[in-house]
Amino acid sequence: MSWIRERELSFIERLTANILKAGPMPKHVAFIMDGNRRFAQKAHVQRQEGHSQGFEKLAETLRLCLNLGIHEVTVYAFSIENFKRSKEEVDGLMELARQKFSRLLTEQENLEKHGVCIRVLGDLTLLPIDLQQLIAKAVVATKAHNKCFLNVCFAYTSRHEIANAVKEMAWGVEQGLIKPSLSL
Ligand code: FPP
Repeated sequence: MSWIRERELSFIERLTANILKAGPMPKHVAFIMDGNRRFAQKAHVQRQEGHSQGFEKLAETLRLCLNLGIHEVTVYAFSIENFKRSKEEVDGLMELARQKFSRLLTEQENLEKHGVCIRVLGDLTLLPIDLQQLIAKAVVATKAHNKCFLNVCFAYTSRHEIANAVKEMAWGVEQGLIKPSLSL
């Protein structure tokens, strides 16, 4: 299923959206994907189906954000710690991500129509190479769009990001690319 849902808002969704729009609207909203496995257990379906349904809920949420005119959405989908899950589960999630990013590449017309720019944040070197390539294609294909921004945190952990940024800065100083002194 696609990332961009075109379905019109239902009466109740329209009513709720209008009430929300009457007040101050956030410019940027972030979501943490959570509860996929608990949902699977409760619904007596396979864990992988729980993750698939989790993605469907995400796409529904993005549709509502688009309709509400929210300019930027960040989704925390997969942390570096999540690699510690069983091989079967991690492989299943990588396959799901593969399917979704491949699908995204077929939706370029729609992404252009809505001006959606996709950015993927995290240590992408930890992902399978074919997935890295798919993600790179999706990011490059939408980089000029500027009506709304979807940031997908994938293989993302803030401590790792900060440590990497500091390492890169130290390298920059070593190479003479950055001055070590800060003028405040
Ligand atoms: C959280 O639920 C979900 C995850 C850790 C994985 C979410 C990732 C995907 C669905 C892959 C595709 C996504 C994109 C955006 C391409 P949980 O497993 O922690 O569930 P629990 O809280 O019930 O244990």
